[in-house]
Order: sequence, then C-alpha cells, then structure tokens
Amino acid sequence: MENFVFYNPVKILFGKGQIANIAQEIPGDAKILITYGGGSIKANGVYDQVKSALAGRKVFEFGGIEPNPHLETLMKAVELIRKEGIDFILAVGGGSVVDGTKFIAAAVPFVGDPWDILAKGAPVNAAVPFGAVLTLPATGSEMNPTAVITKSETQEKLYFANPLVFPKFSVLDPETTFSLPTRQISNGIVDAFTHVMEQYLTYSVNAPLQDRMAESILKTLIEEGPKTLANPTDYDARANLVWSATMALNGLIAVGVPQDWTTHMIGHELTALHGMDHAQTLAVVLPSTLTIRRDRKSQKLLQYADRVWEIVGGSEDERIDAAISKTRDFFESVGVRTRLSDYGVGVETIPVVIKNLEKHGMTALGENKDVNPQVVEKILALCV
Ligand code: NZQ
Ligand code: ZN
Repeated sequence: MENFVFYNPVKILFGKGQIANIAQEIPGDAKILITYGGGSIKANGVYDQVKSALAGRKVFEFGGIEPNPHLETLMKAVELIRKEGIDFILAVGGGSVVDGTKFIAAAVPFVGDPWDILAKGAPVNAAVPFGAVLTLPATGSEMNPTAVITKSETQEKLYFANPLVFPKFSVLDPETTFSLPTRQISNGIVDAFTHVMEQYLTYSVNAPLQDRMAESILKTLIEEGPKTLANPTDYDARANLVWSATMALNGLIAVGVPQDWTTHMIGHELTALHGMDHAQTLAVVLPSTLTIRRDRKSQKLLQYADRVWEIVGGSEDERIDAAISKTRDFFESVGVRTRLSDYGVGVETIPVVIKNLEKHGMTALGENKDVNPQVVEKILALCV
C-alpha cells in the first residue's frame, strides 16, 4: 500500500426530513445565499423545505446554475456575494450546483481572474463557507473538495480541488431525489460506478481493504441500480444508491492506491465539445479504456471479473472480454448508451479531443502516466 494522508471533514445529515435540521449548521447571524439550478427544487418541494428551515434568517437567492455549470453564470453570483457581504452559501441541487458553489466560494476572495484557479492552478487561499442539500446522487461532490466548471466562451471544461471547498455539511435526503427524471437516475448509477472503477481498476498494491470496499460499492450499484430505476419511490433502494454514490468519490477508496481518471478526462472534453451528459461520456469511454489498457490492467480485470461479475470459467483473455462486456451491458441495461454514434458524434471528434487534451496538459494520463495522445486516439477509435 502507498503512503497516504486522509482528510474529510464533511458532516453528513442523511435521511428523511434532514433538511429541517440545517439551521443549526449555519451560524445564526450569517447572511446566506441559496444557490440552485433551473428550477427542479421549486417543483419538488425542496425549495419550500429549505426556506422553512431558514425562516427568520437573512437569505438571498441565486438561481439558474446550469448543468455543467458555466463560469459566466457563476461570476454573477460572485458579484452578488461581494456586493451584499454574504458570508455563507447553501447549494441546493445536483452536482452542478454544488460544483458551481465551490467555485463561487473560492472566487469571492480571489484576487485576479478566478478562471486561473482552473486554467493555471492558481492557489486558493480562502473560500466562503458553504453547505449543500444534494438532490441528485452521482458526483460525490457533496463530500469531496473537487469542482468541474465549464467556460462556455472557449468550450473548456476543467476541474480544481482544494480542501477549502469541502462543504461544511451535506444533507442527503433520498426523498428529495424521487422527482428525478429516469435519465438522471441512470446517469447517477453510471457516474458512481465509473468513479469506483477509476480508483480500483488499475494495478494491485496489496490493498485488499480498499479493493473490497470498491467491489462492494460496485456490487451494490449493480443490485440496487435496477431496483431504484424500476421503482423510483422505493426509499431503501434510493437510499442505497445515494450512499453508494457518496462513498464512490469521498476519497476513502482512493487512499493508498493508484488512480486512473483517463475516462473522466476524455469525457470532460466530449461534454465540452458536444454537450453530452457527463455520465453518457463515461459509459462510452470506460469500456474502450479497459479494452485498450487490458494488458496493463489484466490482474485487476481478472479480479473484477471474478469478484464483481462472478466470471470464473474460460481463459484469462475470455474472462477479461466477458468482464468488459458485462460492464458495457450494465450501462446499457440501466439506460445509458455506450457508443459515440448513439449521441450523433463521429470520428471527426477524435483529433479535436486530442488537441484539447494537449492544450490542457493532459498528455500523460492513467495510473502509469502512459496514456499519451496516441493511446487516447486508440481509445476514442473504439468508442465510435
Ligand atoms: O437545474 P435543475 O432544475 O435543478 O435540474 C437538474 C439538471 O437539469 C436536474 N435535477 C437535479 N436534481 C433533481 C433534478 N430534477 C428533478 N429532481 C431532482 N431532485 O438534473 C439535471 C442534471 O443536474 P446536474 O447537477 O448537472 O447533474 P449531476 O449531479 O450529474 O452533476 C454533473 C456535473 O458534475 C460534474 C460533472 O462533470 C458535471 O458538470 N462532476 C463533478 C464531480 C465532483 N465534483 O467530484 C465528479 C464527477 O466526475 C463529475 O465530473
Ligand atoms: Zn464523474
């Protein structure tokens, strides 16, 4: 096992009715900005629950944060916070609202152009404190220090991570997710599954606890995902998806092990160029990444085949083939298509994605840092 430092200060308020308890998590004299997206929280009653929990508090609002949140939109919230002297933010929505809020929180005290935080890795030395009410299980943003932001002007989608943008608390009430459209539940299952795979499906460093935790999240998603899709108001099935998605990317399964993230980095470029949902890009790219990297990943692929899919018969090559097919079939079975052509994207995107990855310094991806542009080209050629 590799050395590691583990730090995760996010307080989780899990379960039915937990929104009612947020007031005690926010300083009594705070000027609070509620950030939200395109309006789903008004349609499903979450907004009303938040407003009643914060009755009597000084509350401002900023709506309209779009999926794959845009720098241009978020900067308007930064101006509002600076103008009104707001000192606490409450993000209410999916990963895009939580990510957008992390950026806002870091941008408010930042001196200079805040896009430099993502584009140039400019240091973040302070951030406005914030909490989250999560309404979409997928990204893990509710319990991690990462945000992914899009600059629409240049079609760039970049990330930053900083411990100052861990949420102070996150409410995970599975009932707030009952109103999700099927497509977003499907997306959540695929995103969480891929997060685990990018931290697990690398090479062995003799870390059996991390391996088994990763495998248990994968198996839970395989079991509970179809249940929650078939019966969206089954509380227990949804609660299991919500907690699996959080555990998939809160840092715990990443400790002491190598990580990949090739699929995510290629996926971000595809979203920036074509507007594909984040999870759609992952469903397309992950099976191809596993196929092209099968020699480097063979030991773990065999373990994955055995422990996650219970594939025991056949040669090593046959078992690896079967495990990759099972992965693709699982994504398709939960309703996310796995070919670029399913989204109207063709081979012409390949040189553009590679050029953009080069521009963003992503020329040595993967757990061995050997996924160079030539390897990305092979991966993308298999995605079509
Ligand atoms: O905007 P509203 O009206 O709220 O509607 C949203 C949006 O249209 C809707 N929605 C959310 N909760 C709902 C709901 N509709 C009905 N009922 C509810 N309870 O769902 C749509 C998608 O929301 P979004 O927040 O964009 O989805 P998701 O949570 O999948 O977030 C995706 C973003 O997170 C980034 C992705 O790149 C993408 O930008 N990621 C963030 C990560 C992180 N912070 O660690 C890691 C991930 O790998 C990912 O890259
Ligand atoms: Zn993801």
